[in-house]
Amino acid sequence: MCGIVGYIGPKKPGEVLINGLKRLDYRGYDSAGVAVSSENEIYLQKKKGRIGDLSEKDIPIGKSGIGHTRWATHGRPSDHNAHPFIDCRGEIAIVHNGIIDNFSSIKEELINNGHEFTSETDSEVIVHLLEENYDGDFLEAFKKTVTRINGSYAILAIHKDSNELLVSRNQSPMVIGVGDQENLVASDAPALLEHTKNVKYLQDGDIARITEDNIEIWNENDELIERETKKIEWDAEDAEKGGYEHFMLKEIFEQPKAIHESILGRLTDFNELDLSQYNLDAVQFIACGTSAHAGFVGKYIFEKIAKIPCTLEFSSEYRHSSPSDSYPLTILLSQSGETLDTIAAAREANRRGNDTLAITNVLDSSITREVDDVMYTQAGPEIGVAATKTFTTQVVMLYLLAVEMGIERNVLSKDQADKYRDELRRLPRKVETILNDKEKIKELTESLSKADDIFFVGRNINYPVALEGALKLKEIAYIHAAGYPAGELKHGPFALLTENTPVIAIAVKDQTFEKMLGNIGEIAARDSPVIVVGDQDKELEKLADENYFIPEVPPLFSPLLVNVVLQLISYYTAYRLDRDIDKPRNLAKSVTVE
Ligand code: F6R
Repeated sequence: MCGIVGYIGPKKPGEVLINGLKRLDYRGYDSAGVAVSSENEIYLQKKKGRIGDLSEKDIPIGKSGIGHTRWATHGRPSDHNAHPFIDCRGEIAIVHNGIIDNFSSIKEELINNGHEFTSETDSEVIVHLLEENYDGDFLEAFKKTVTRINGSYAILAIHKDSNELLVSRNQSPMVIGVGDQENLVASDAPALLEHTKNVKYLQDGDIARITEDNIEIWNENDELIERETKKIEWDAEDAEKGGYEHFMLKEIFEQPKAIHESILGRLTDFNELDLSQYNLDAVQFIACGTSAHAGFVGKYIFEKIAKIPCTLEFSSEYRHSSPSDSYPLTILLSQSGETLDTIAAAREANRRGNDTLAITNVLDSSITREVDDVMYTQAGPEIGVAATKTFTTQVVMLYLLAVEMGIERNVLSKDQADKYRDELRRLPRKVETILNDKEKIKELTESLSKADDIFFVGRNINYPVALEGALKLKEIAYIHAAGYPAGELKHGPFALLTENTPVIAIAVKDQTFEKMLGNIGEIAARDSPVIVVGDQDKELEKLADENYFIPEVPPLFSPLLVNVVLQLISYYTAYRLDRDIDKPRNLAKSVTVE
């Protein structure tokens, strides 16, 4: 999604802005631009394409500047539609993330007042409204402008005559970097880390005026308030590749640490959570994409460990479903905490009277303000667009939560709970064993990279893992893949099986194992090459064309291990095909549009 950076201080704004935008390029973008207030003029440079296409040397020295990477929503990617936008007199520049719902009526009014628009975007109305409202007091004009617009936004504006950055946010993240005789603002913290680790997170409705030595913030009621300064624990290098060829590979390899830290981190979360206040008779998981698959694994975990009936809903569907008479505990999963569909689902769950709990990886992200309680995964920043370590840590949180709920519901003894926790503590080692086998897993992908269609099948708790395996392969290798419950292939997809349609079959020794052996036999009889990922077994060795056996683990804990193998399969398949692994085409890291 779009990225924003702003700077005010003695450094060269061009350098700070361009470096900051580069730190945000993992969010996905199609055009980039900067505007600098210099010698009482606004300098503007913007282009469709990469940040590197901007000419840094042409950007003048100035006191303040704003930068943007755009991911097209209203209006195709083009130079004209790129941000920043400037007003007709060339005095004001703005950048915007989000969507202005009422832009067409405002645009019509502004055109009638003589404003000339240069783009097809909704964002451009903001700068013309500012121009319309400006009569010498930039802050007043900004406040007036913000009250006119509806929708989701993070806005950053500069005026040629005023030495300040003006910022506002509603449902779109914005964080201020507190420096020494300089200040910054960005849509996402990695853009700031090179300069400062001290940050203030803005909240919905906030307006901030930032100068090089002062930060003033007004809340939605126009009261001057303080927002706490927090310290970010990540290093700038944490957001770098650290010697790996891709962020995705680095993040796959960070999973043993991420699991370990999520288990440690749980202690504080559970101390703060009071499970007795929830309705634990039913749980509903709501999420999108990979987070939805984590929730789907969670359904099996909760049903098994805490004996709670669960459902899973996609965020984008939930709002349009009919409310039921029951009031399940609603668990919303979102790595970024900024996925608009999931935020909207949280609001709807609250409206329906459910208790709401979010599991997210991003401190103070938007979803945290929509729910009753929050649990944080301890995955660290995830830069690769494809979610890997955050899926793993979400599932770890769900194991831990299920154990606590099992105890709360008196369906789990202390002994059983300890056994489950011990099993979790053993997982990082087992994941390491798989990671050490990366070359062996890479070999499995030679034939896969030549296929046009690939099936992933699993049963029981590994059915959602098959869905996740297929999603990962589609998004980074651009190969069509479908995840199925293994027993369903014969009800239609069999028609597609040929010697050119590899099937990745997940087979672990749970109550479905015998049936799975039968399913694999049926697939092999249709000449499809079968790659088995699962528990060591002689019969499987005979049936499969190729296999990878995971370290020994109880079936209930197998999803995380199997999924790491599938992540590496997707990664190496995409690698062989020379895909843009960290930034797959048409995708963005956080999806802040519905
Ligand atoms: C796939 C992927 C997406 C996200 C989805 C939800 O690899 O990353 O499917 O899982 O967009 O994002 P969050 O979890 O940030 O709400």
